[in-house]
This record gives sequence, structure tokens and C-alpha cells, in this order.
Amino acid sequence: MNGPVTIKNDSTMVDIKEIGIIGAGQMGSGIAHVASLAGYTVKLIDIDQGQLTKAVATIQRNMDRQVNRKKISAGDRDAAMVRITTGTDYGPLSNADLVIEAATENEETKRKIFQALCPTLRPDALIATNTSSISITRLASTTDRPHKFIGLHFMNPVPVMDLVELIRGIATDVPTFEAVKAVAVALGKTPAVSEDFPAFIVNRILLPMVNEAIYTLYEGVGSVEAIDTSMKLGARHPMGPLELADFIGLDTCLAIMQVLYEGLADSKYRPCPLLVKYVEAGWLGKKSGRGFYDYSGETPVPTR
Ligand code: CAA
Repeated sequence: MNGPVTIKNDSTMVDIKEIGIIGAGQMGSGIAHVASLAGYTVKLIDIDQGQLTKAVATIQRNMDRQVNRKKISAGDRDAAMVRITTGTDYGPLSNADLVIEAATENEETKRKIFQALCPTLRPDALIATNTSSISITRLASTTDRPHKFIGLHFMNPVPVMDLVELIRGIATDVPTFEAVKAVAVALGKTPAVSEDFPAFIVNRILLPMVNEAIYTLYEGVGSVEAIDTSMKLGARHPMGPLELADFIGLDTCLAIMQVLYEGLADSKYRPCPLLVKYVEAGWLGKKSGRGFYDYSGETPVPTR
């Protein structure tokens, strides 16, 4: 296991030992999982105590699976679980060296979080956002420390996927970039640097493909099963695009397509009306029990 990282440079020394994570959904809990296994003290924060309880249970279950598959030892798991504590306000983040925001993909929600968070933090604490599409420069401007603010975008499932995207805002300074890059490496991830453009690199390419798969369904070109089988066996994707959409969350898929559509002002990014309708229906994919598949039984069943 890699340990916490110390970065020295001319002006500041950023010694990252304690990481705060805001949002205990699938991304926040995955980030807590890898950060605690890498030796960091983790403070996982969510306004909803129920969500925190669920997140800790998920982390435990996923670490148990890693123990069973001999990826980590039972000792690593137990030590990591002890390093995670939870809270429903920002008080526990008063000594965090780095806070990673992983709340819902909604700019207004993130703005409100940063405004409420900043007064609690040490002046030298760094802030990273796990946004999958929103402008880092714009989010940074809502904080009291745009130079200590950066995009750190993890992929789902966080414990399995090797990539993180690192995105500098216009004001992000070199010590912040280097410190957060070193944390990413300590978490066992390979960083790819993206410029601050809508949806960065992975989602700029991946989400239009997912959206096109939904158009393919909407226009009746193929069934859910035909589309997913085609891309799994015909393009060797680990998941079909509709299964992947359900896995990411249809609300997140729609939010990313809207950022692309509005941010790049190009009609080729128009969200498929069927995606909009599913989100309006509350059919958000795996997490809500229904999306392009119905998850209520033993195995997922295509809904179209
Ligand atoms: N925690 C820990 N380990 C996990 C895990 C989790 N949450 N989920 C799966 N694993 C592990 C399993 O234990 C298993 O480990 P071994 O190799 O040691 O056996 C391995 O991952 C494979 O899992 P499974 O055998 O259960 O299932 P699978 O072979 O079908 O793989 C998958 C599952 C890894 C999720 C695979 O289907 C996959 O890679 N899918 C594509 C995922 C993808 O594209 N993610 C990116 C989404 S886009 C994104 O995240 C950006 C955004 O902003 C929207």
C-alpha cells in the first residue's frame, strides 16, 4: 500500500494526511474506500445520515470482496475501515489537508457547498472537485482560494478504474497541482491532464456514445439487449452503453449532456428525449432500481 504524501516546494509545504470527502454517494464512498486503503485519514461528510450508513456498509462489502479475492489482507481492510469517520456537517473538516467534493452533479449545489465549507477549512487546505463536467474555473471562483482549487475526476467504480483526470482552473497554482497529482498516484491511479473544457476528456468522448445508444433505442433501431450485446461483442466494451448509462446514473448522464450541449453550443450534443423522459420519471438507473433495465429481481431485465 502507498502511504500519505509529502510535497515540498519553494513557497509551501503541503503535507497531505487527512482527506475530507463531501458526498457519500457512489463516487464519494469509492473515493473514501481508496483513500483509506492508501493510509489517509478520511472524513466522509453527507447531509443525510442514512446515506453515510449505506456508504460505510458499501465500503465494507467492497473491501470484503477484495479480501476474498486476495487483493488486500484482512488487516489492511480493518485498518482502513478504522481510518474512516463520518459526519453530517463540515465541523470534522477543520483540520483536513485536502477536501474532495463529490456531491450531486449540479452547479448550484456545488456552489452552496463551497460557500458553506470554506470558513471551516484551514487557510492552507486544498479543495478538489470530482465534477465530471462543470467548469473548474467557475467552481473555483465560488471559493476563497481559487489558486488552491483543482478538478480531480475519478471513474466509477473507483476501486477498480485506474484513471483520474486532473483539471487545472485558470488560477490553480503549481504546488496544488503537484500535491493533488501525488495524492492521485498514492491512491494507485494514473492521472491524465485535461484542459478545463466542458466534460473534460473521458466524458466528452464517452457520453455522446451513450447518448447515441439511447437515440438508437429511441428510434427503434435495436432493443436494449441488441444494442448492449452489439457493443459488448462487436466493440469489446466491458458493459453495453445502456447498462453503462444505468450504472453511471441517468441523471448524471443527462447533466453531462446538458453541460456539453450548452457549453459547446453544438446541436450534436442534444440530450436524447428518451433520456430526459426517464430522468423525469425518476428512472435513474441502477441506483433507483429502474432505468434501461429493471433491477428488482435476481438479474437485470431489459425494459424495452
Ligand atoms: N469495489 C471493489 N472492487 C470491485 C468493485 C467495487 N465497487 N466492483 C467490481 N470490483 C472488482 C471485482 O471484485 C472484480 O475483481 P477481480 O478482477 O479481482 O475478480 C473486478 O472488479 C471485476 O468485477 P466483476 O467480476 O464483479 O464484474 P465484471 O467483470 O463485470 O466487471 C466492471 C465489472 C469492472 C464494473 C466492468 O464491467 C467495467 O469495467 N465496466 C465499465 C465501467 C466504466 O466504463 N466506468 C467508467 C464510467 S464513466 C465514469 O465513471 C465517468 C463519469 O463521470 C460518468
